[in-house]
Parts: sequence; C-alpha cells; structure tokens
Amino acid sequence: MSASLFDLLHESHEIQRQLCRRLTAARASTAQREQVFLQLKVELEAHAAAEERFLYVPLLMTDPGLSSSRHALSEHHQIEELCEELSVSDKQGEAWLDTAKRLGEKVRHHLKEEERKFFKVAGRILDVDKKDMLGRRYQKDLVRMRKKYAADYQRVDVSSAGEVVAAPR
Ligand SMILES: [Fe+2]
Ligand SMILES: [Fe+2]
Repeated sequence: MSASLFDLLHESHEIQRQLCRRLTAARASTAQREQVFLQLKVELEAHAAAEERFLYVPLLMTDPGLSSSRHALSEHHQIEELCEELSVSDKQGEAWLDTAKRLGEKVRHHLKEEERKFFKVAGRILDVDKKDMLGRRYQKDLVRMRKKYAADYQRVDVSSAGEVVAAPR
C-alpha cells in the first residue's frame, strides 16, 4: 500500500520542524543559519504550493472545508511574508534572529493546527480513493517545486531521493 496523503504531508512537516530548530539553535554560526534558512525557505515554499494545490483547493470546494482551508492559506501567506523579511543580505544581529524565531513559532503553530485540526477535517471530507490520488499528486508536485525553488539558490540542491539538501561546494 502506498503512503497515505497525511503521512506524506507529515514527512515534510518533520523536515520543517528540524530546520526551524537548526535555524535558531544557540550554537549556530551566521553562515550555518544562512544555509539552513535557504533550505527551510525552499522546503516551506514547495510544501505550501503542493499542499495548497492537492489538499486545500479540493477542501475549499466543499462547504465543511471552507473555513479550515481559508485559515490555512492565510497562515501560508504570513509564513511567506516572514521568509521575505528574512531574505536580506545582512543576516547578522539580533533583529534577524528575532524574526527567525518568530518564523519558527509561526511554522510550529501552523503545523500543529494542520495535524490536530485541518487534516482531521479533510480526513472526514475526502474519501479513500480521493486521498490516494491526492497523495500521489502532492508528492510529485512537492519534488518538482523543491527543484524549481532550489534552482534560485546556488547553495541549495535536491538529492536523487527528492529531498532539499545543501549543494556541494
Ligand atoms: Fe500548511
Ligand atoms: Fe503542511
């Protein structure tokens, strides 16, 4: 049996959580934070795009899914704005780190809300075949979008397994 839609979504959530921890780890250097930030940004953008297309758009089309999908899309937008704010050349100093911490908190809050609430709503609305089909399409689009966004940065690459990695120097 193939992995379920929610297992696949969860895989990226764990990657995001780990990168958020590394982004604001006390021992990290500015160079390490810059590298981790680019990987996190690519992962967040790629996951949000694929998740919007293959989870929230189908949900948005149903009456019981309208409120959850609206809420989630608005949080994706807030996360995108924080990433924009962090995409400055000078990543040293307290102000940048404070914004990075805000991004981490926002991402963690969003993932928790999806896993505890929005995915449960979706689980009740979508039937088994639809979930299977959406899972396959989500995963394919996630890897494609990771490659597309990673191409913007010399320091980020996508491995043969489809994961966002640091580019070899
Ligand atoms: Fe999301
Ligand atoms: Fe998500």
